[in-house]
Amino acid sequence: MSVPLPVDVSPEEITRGAELLREGRLVAFPTETVYGLGADASSPAALRRLYDVKRRPADHPVIVHVASADALSDWSAAVPDGARVLAAAHWPGPLTLVVRRAATVLDEVTGGRDTVAVRVPDQPVALALLRAFGGGVAAPSANRFGRVSPTTAAAVRADLGDDVDLVLDGGPCRVGVESTIVDWSGDEPVIRREGGVARDEIEALLGAPVAVRTGETGGAAAPGTLASHYAPRARVILAVDDADAVRQAGDAVAHSARAGVLGVHLGADLPAGVVVLASPATTDEYARVLYGALRAADDAGLDVVVAVPPDARGLGAAVADRLRRAAAPRADGT
Ligand code: TXA
Ligand code: MG
Repeated sequence: MSVPLPVDVSPEEITRGAELLREGRLVAFPTETVYGLGADASSPAALRRLYDVKRRPADHPVIVHVASADALSDWSAAVPDGARVLAAAHWPGPLTLVVRRAATVLDEVTGGRDTVAVRVPDQPVALALLRAFGGGVAAPSANRFGRVSPTTAAAVRADLGDDVDLVLDGGPCRVGVESTIVDWSGDEPVIRREGGVARDEIEALLGAPVAVRTGETGGAAAPGTLASHYAPRARVILAVDDADAVRQAGDAVAHSARAGVLGVHLGADLPAGVVVLASPATTDEYARVLYGALRAADDAGLDVVVAVPPDARGLGAAVADRLRRAAAPRADGT
């Protein structure tokens, strides 16, 4: 089955990307969620380089990207039937499954855990690269540790510069927030990160409620679950509704801060000087524009971003989660 590639990525570039991966180098590629920074998941040297460039602590695990669900058994020791149901329904797609790892999976991938995270992305360039490479590609989001995930090739280049050997440009990401992580390494499934597949879709498929438990993965906290993560340099303040956003933005401006706002259909009655970063019409659009808006706040040198989280249904849960983390106090006290 061959999927047409977006016009801006040639078959030669895909071949080049696969060659670079085989040489242990780093290739950034689009997925439907965010851009990933790819490395050969079976090469310790490539994985060390990946961690260096990400500036990520070595005990934080990465997701292995594969071309099809058939590859899941190469990486895992045991796959529960329910996990297979989720994979059949959502792969390729914004779902990551955490299962017990196969003995051959490197500690550099799992951060020393006895589990591994696997996903099949739903993006033609990503799938073409994975097929051309043939093996698993470890790929965290293509940003420096703790910063906002990139949803365009330009954002990857701005963040990583020459530290990445090739950036495949597949245009803006369709979903805009990361994959949903379902951990099925124990007896019951647990959602470790809300993302591109809504919790109610997962519960409907399984016919049972599924707990959301972020921040407990055994061992070190997973990066996407750290309180302060996905954060721009600007301070992020959450508003309860549009009127609150207008008031908070007004307060910021009154204290000579440069302020921006972000929220569904926001825009009316804003104090003079306040920048509208994005005013998405729907929750799905909110997810798509979220990280670009946070980056734009930094590019514009804003001090404060006042955001109204969307309704927590569908993708709204993931957007609200990322905004909460962006607004959490930073380790450096800012
Ligand atoms: O949408 C996505 O998942 C994107 C694209 C590039 O595929 N990738 C992504 O990777 O968000 P990253 O590294 O930024 O986040 C991976 C998350 C982290 O929270 C990590 O802790 C968790 O997956 N994770 C990876 N392996 C795990 C494991 N064995 N057990 C629990 N969590 C794991
Ligand atoms: Mg990330």
